[in-house]
Amino acid sequence: MAERPGENTRAVRLPAPDAPVGRPVRPPVHRSTTYAFGTSREYAEVLAGERPGYSYARIDNPTTEAFAHAVAALEGDGLDHDVHGQAFASGMAAISTTLLALTRAGAHVVAAQSIYGTSHALLDGLLRRFGVTTDFVDITDLAAVRAALRPETTLVFTETLSNPTMTVSDLPALAELTRAAGVFLVVDSTFASPAVCRPLEHGADVVLHSATKYLGGHSDATGGVVVARDGVIDAIRSARVDLGPCLAPDEAFLLHRGLETLPLRVARQCATAAEFATAVARHPAVERVDYPGLPDHPGHAPARRLFDAGRFGAVVTVTPRGGRDAGMAFADRLRVASIAASLGGTHTLAGHVGSTTHRQMPDEALRAAGIGPAAVRFSIGVEDPADLIADALGALDGINAP
Ligand SMILES: Cc1ncc(COP(=O)(O)O)c(C=O)c1O
Repeated sequence: MAERPGENTRAVRLPAPDAPVGRPVRPPVHRSTTYAFGTSREYAEVLAGERPGYSYARIDNPTTEAFAHAVAALEGDGLDHDVHGQAFASGMAAISTTLLALTRAGAHVVAAQSIYGTSHALLDGLLRRFGVTTDFVDITDLAAVRAALRPETTLVFTETLSNPTMTVSDLPALAELTRAAGVFLVVDSTFASPAVCRPLEHGADVVLHSATKYLGGHSDATGGVVVARDGVIDAIRSARVDLGPCLAPDEAFLLHRGLETLPLRVARQCATAAEFATAVARHPAVERVDYPGLPDHPGHAPARRLFDAGRFGAVVTVTPRGGRDAGMAFADRLRVASIAASLGGTHTLAGHVGSTTHRQMPDEALRAAGIGPAAVRFSIGVEDPADLIADALGALDGINAP
């Protein structure tokens, strides 16, 4: 280099501050996409995984990794073996990468028929084009799950709690089936979060989340995460590196921050949801309320066995009497809850199921899936329960009026 570097060199190589004394309480955001090494050998060894370190952001990033490790700690707390996490740019990135990593052309999947619509579309559309076929079954019917397994089945895919009927998967029973068949049990636990249920404790091989929901918890960051034991997570990581849906460090910071209040938020949201479901179910304009905390819900017994005491999730589906119009009028009259997509945040959100998340399904198909055409799904937030209940009861009074 010349004795005095030129202005552009100096601009790029401005002096950096020394590393601070003391450990930051919050992990910093590492935005650098690349890392400098002292020698070529060091660089090669990090790339080859022969020494710890970071090389390139799509492969690994300290902020993203801190978030994935934290979720693995929450999901794997009660296990007698280590599990590891991988973070993704969205919940669907986590799901698609996991499915690609654990299947191959000619493979077969058994999936719950009530899974999230985009997961259903991925399995039934894109993956089918690549020779992966899926049978969708009633996941609460274990005989049907067993009958659907084939020699070429590589995994069973379900959700801990599924939208919008709040179906509860009997995870230990499913794990017994999948273990005997030598296939993976992959569980989307987005609606539960590790503050309600930890599927790996019940025999699942892989747990994954849309971190956009309860893990982040504030409706301000999009992400996904997968947790599994060594070997399985390595295959998923390798697929992530090849496919490229890495979580951005700024999002990882927000999602990681959300985890600190996860049990506080979720405990409160579950308690409010139980109060809300009980109060709303008594209103004469209500045909049914789907919430596994209610003793007459089909998922109540498995939820009591599998979920942390007193926590049944915080999504409540309320079906007023009448058709689609009654459901939409109910949602439109809400003043505290906002009409919006998504769930798991601090704000209570509501949506008419038949015209939004399940809009492709006609009334008969909705009814066959156990969903009334008037159903409105609530994601209960952290507002005061009395305000949410008064809001819903007032809105129900209104749709009943002539
Ligand atoms: C159960 C479930 N899984 C996965 C997803 C997809 O997550 P994302 O929107 O972060 O890709 C969603 C989104 O609503 C969901 O409800």
